[in-house]
Amino acid sequence: MPLASTRSLITEVAASHWDEVGGLDDIKALLRETVEWPLKYPQRLAFVKTTAPRGILLTGPTGTGKTLIVRALATQSDVNFIAVNGPELLSKWVGETERAIRDVFRKARQSAPSIIFFDEVDAIVASRGGDDGGARIGDRMVGQFLLEMDGLAGLDGVVVIAATNRPDLIDRALLRPGRFDHIATLALPDRAARAAILAIHCRGRALGSDVDLAALAKACAGMSGADLEALCRRAAMAAIRASIIAEPGADFAPFAITGGDFDAALADWRTATPEGASKLDAVA
Ligand SMILES: Nc1ncnc2c1ncn2[C@@H]1O[C@H](COP(=O)(O)OP(=O)(O)O)[C@@H](O)[C@H]1O
Ligand SMILES: [Mg+2]
Repeated sequence: MPLASTRSLITEVAASHWDEVGGLDDIKALLRETVEWPLKYPQRLAFVKTTAPRGILLTGPTGTGKTLIVRALATQSDVNFIAVNGPELLSKWVGETERAIRDVFRKARQSAPSIIFFDEVDAIVASRGGDDGGARIGDRMVGQFLLEMDGLAGLDGVVVIAATNRPDLIDRALLRPGRFDHIATLALPDRAARAAILAIHCRGRALGSDVDLAALAKACAGMSGADLEALCRRAAMAAIRASIIAEPGADFAPFAITGGDFDAALADWRTATPEGASKLDAVA
């Protein structure tokens, strides 16, 4: 299998930095110590007879920053990074998914030290025994995945990270020791983390003096990082709208995003997001 065709299943990963990730300090530390250190400093692990974990599974509600934090890890560590999106692999490699999985692992071994990242991994390693009309494609993919994970044992320099919103769908065999031996759950952000995330997404934006991010963080209980990012975008849109109403022409006076814009965005989010209202009410 030529590598050229392997490349097509590797997703481009946008650069991202640790300081773009709000909260999640425990997960950042875990990824640095269990992924970056073993790949970067293998001699030190050997010195104290410690081996690197084979796989790390990141779980947690959607929008909590799983993809974001792995992007930051990839950008900020010096090792090779191979990113594969589960649903994409399925749709691009119809009927050839086992080969695709095999190629991903082969490529990772060739470019060690390396990290393989399977985002939305539930798409390819859902529990076996599912009924797909007798083809048992799911079973064969799980089987191939297990084979590849086990094949890595003893071979240093490749760490597999997978992310899923649906850990309940993952085939149990993958969670055994020597496979995904670390499971890290990303929680919804607490108040301090929400304030940090809001600050990240307001960076470089002109804010009115009446904007109180700490108070806003308190009002946003129950929201994920992705929700908070959307909130900041909506507030910016509200400010743009107000500016256009005031000055419909091409010229405009500098304007800031006000506390009122954030309040409107929050009210908007409550009604426009199906789960918005219930999310906020649940924690009210
Ligand atoms: N902890 C966080 N800090 C800053 N931004 C976040 C955080 N979590 C989520 N986001 C924002 O939400 C977007 C989507 O998050 P993502 O990593 O795709 O979530 P997941 O993969 O867990 O569903 C990110 O690109 C980022 O803009
Ligand atoms: Mg994701």
